Amino acid sequence: MPEKQTTHAPRLILPRWHDLHAHFRQGELLRPLLRAHAAMGCAGILAMPNTVPPVAKVFPAGAAFDCWSIEEYRDLLHEAGGGGFDDIIVPLYLSEITTPEMIATGAKSGLLRACKYYPPRGTTNAEHGRPLNHYIQNGVFEALAEHGIILCVHGEEHGLPPEAYFDSGTNAETLFYKERMPPLVEKFPKLKIVAEHVSTAAAVEFVRQAGKNLSASVTPQHLLYTAGHLAQGCKYHLYCLPLLKFDADRAALRAAVTSPHNWQFFAGTDSAPHAKKVTACGCAAGCFTGGIAPQLYAMAFEDAGIDLTSPQGQDIFARFLCRNGPAFYDLPVSKETFTLVKEEQAVTPLATPEGDIVTLAEGAGLKTLPWRIA
Ligand code: NCD
Ligand code: ZN
Repeated sequence: MPEKQTTHAPRLILPRWHDLHAHFRQGELLRPLLRAHAAMGCAGILAMPNTVPPVAKVFPAGAAFDCWSIEEYRDLLHEAGGGGFDDIIVPLYLSEITTPEMIATGAKSGLLRACKYYPPRGTTNAEHGRPLNHYIQNGVFEALAEHGIILCVHGEEHGLPPEAYFDSGTNAETLFYKERMPPLVEKFPKLKIVAEHVSTAAAVEFVRQAGKNLSASVTPQHLLYTAGHLAQGCKYHLYCLPLLKFDADRAALRAAVTSPHNWQFFAGTDSAPHAKKVTACGCAAGCFTGGIAPQLYAMAFEDAGIDLTSPQGQDIFARFLCRNGPAFYDLPVSKETFTLVKEEQAVTPLATPEGDIVTLAEGAGLKTLPWRIA
């Protein structure tokens, strides 16, 4: 007997997608974190290099400080279950040991495909980052442009006084896109840049007018929530960098990702697990969305007025989730699919050997999500 059909809930059948900004850490966390990404329909991942130690060289030999090579970290990801993905990109963590020669040989080997700029001490494990000027002057950015290597930018000005840090006109991201990015793109017009986890109207505006070599990743948290959501009840699982911003910023992000002609904005969750999120006197930055990101993105698109049951709505969603990112990174869109069904799914933490990791959804006070992965 065929199984009885019990549901007529709307279904979204989408190409498997690429999470082009995620954190998988190291050690015993790798396996459960990779599994959570595989379970949410990912064809490929970009695994950020702010691990401990960081991924600051391309090949295993030589370095001035303790770090992994792209080759070593990629192998660790493979051994921990990452082999099932079509593609794993590990960007090089730009630091004082990065040289134009490292970029040239890395690019020729095919191992180096992207680099990550971290504002010095600007976020989790960012202490090896150097200011932008360092790489402008030492020829590293020129080498990236020459070899077609993508620069992933954490676009926040570092070292601001607390009173400037969050104000809507002078916050760390707005300042970065007003003052740091214009000279950078002017000096290196051929350099392909991803503005990571954009959170402000200023960054969205900059990316939009910058032309074909600029794209941006957008997280579920910045599309769904504002600083008010974080502040009301001090919901620290919503604390990430860049900080959640204001309603006008969220509206600008939503308008960008839901534009029918969007080719620049794509999914990059910045899923950043912290098994120990709070200490007695502080809180680690990062929201965990492993296992639930497509569901959260779908929620945000619906909140923004997109009808995901219509072909037009589905096309807009698929551009953002499945097509724009691979196009920018020159990857094929997956020929395999995964399915989102409009049915409630309970939210639960991810159990890991280092403790339970609470998701963004639970941290925001949700008990269920309106979509689940079939
Ligand atoms: C990230 C992390 O925890 O690795 N945290 C975050 O708030 N996004 C680092 C980063 O990408 O900023
Ligand atoms: Zn990140």
